[in-house]
Amino acid sequence: MLSSIARNSQLLSHARMMSSSSSLPKVAVVGAAGGIGQSLSLLLKCSPHVGELALSDIVNTPGVAADLGHINTEGSVTGYNGPDAMADALKDAKLVVIPAGVPRKPGMTRDDLFNTNAGIVRSIAEVAAKACPNAFFAIISNPVNSTVPIFAETLKSAGVYDPKKVFGVTTLDITRANTFVADALDRHTKDVNVTVCGGHAGTTIMPILSGVEGANFSDQQIKELTHRIQFGGDEVVQAKDGAGSATLSMAYAAAVFSDRLLQAAAGEKDVIECAYVESPVAKDDGCDYFSTPVRLGPNGVEEIFPLPSLSTSEKENYDQMIGDLAAQIKKGVDFCK
Ligand code: NAD
Ligand code: LMR
Repeated sequence: MLSSIARNSQLLSHARMMSSSSSLPKVAVVGAAGGIGQSLSLLLKCSPHVGELALSDIVNTPGVAADLGHINTEGSVTGYNGPDAMADALKDAKLVVIPAGVPRKPGMTRDDLFNTNAGIVRSIAEVAAKACPNAFFAIISNPVNSTVPIFAETLKSAGVYDPKKVFGVTTLDITRANTFVADALDRHTKDVNVTVCGGHAGTTIMPILSGVEGANFSDQQIKELTHRIQFGGDEVVQAKDGAGSATLSMAYAAAVFSDRLLQAAAGEKDVIECAYVESPVAKDDGCDYFSTPVRLGPNGVEEIFPLPSLSTSEKENYDQMIGDLAAQIKKGVDFCK
């Protein structure tokens, strides 16, 4: 008797889970069979904010979908293999997260990926423009400084660009900054929240260490921490020694950012995250895209905060890198002309 009550209540809670998951949004991952894609899809399968999870890649999605589909968390998983199936994966998605494209090997810059990844990102944007023009788009594929303009320009050409909904994911820079600063200050990482502005490549990454509450860093510490945050990606590329770049930390960062977007979409207030978006902040310096903290809401970006006040060394960093960022943005825009 007891075991039958337990079984019935289990079935009931499963039914409840299924009915509540049907009201949760659909999220698509493009590049879902890759290093980032698989781990990110696992985290999204475990997210309480995701209903249906649609996995798109040019290879191996049936296996990844079958594997994840056995996890008894809320929500369904479907795999879509090959470019022709991508539109079905994207249809009705609230959020499309895009880690499709090749990663770096030692000795390469992110910009060296442009020739391969620019075309991949443009082809995904072309499908997205038709399949889910109103979705949020979170772009991970490098070089982010250029791929976000490429994605935006492609949506613009299709007449469906909404600047509030296209995001370059820079959350890994914040994740790293919080880890390294917490170590330096001997604090718990939950007590550290570093703002990182600018772009996502080398010196275009601008950690605002002067804004870390209660920290009294020496000039040497500032120099070393700034360099480590800016070149944290290279640290992983070198350690992987030809086997790719950051995948697990990136998947974690993208899952955090996706959850925040979905929470904001569901009406949660005061969702503020750094993201690389179309922005007026550095427009006078030739950059139509820039990352600062942005307030997120049901329609995407609701408010773009200005650059926080900068220390002398942060201002020098800005002055030195802003021309490079402008050139990387222009390269993406020009690619679409
Ligand atoms: P990976 O090679 O392991 O995976 C990439 C996946 O994309 C592969 O499964 C591949 O089949 C798929 N793919 C390629 N072309 C596609 C297309 N046209 N449509 C759909 N899928 C396609 O690479 P990874 O390590 O997962 O990295 C992916 C990208 O993310 C790289 O460009 C990397 O530089 C970038 N990245 C960005 C950040 C960031 O902070 N924004 C961090 C880490 C990596
Ligand atoms: C990172 O910051 O880890 C990514 O952009 C991947 C890379 O090429 O470094």
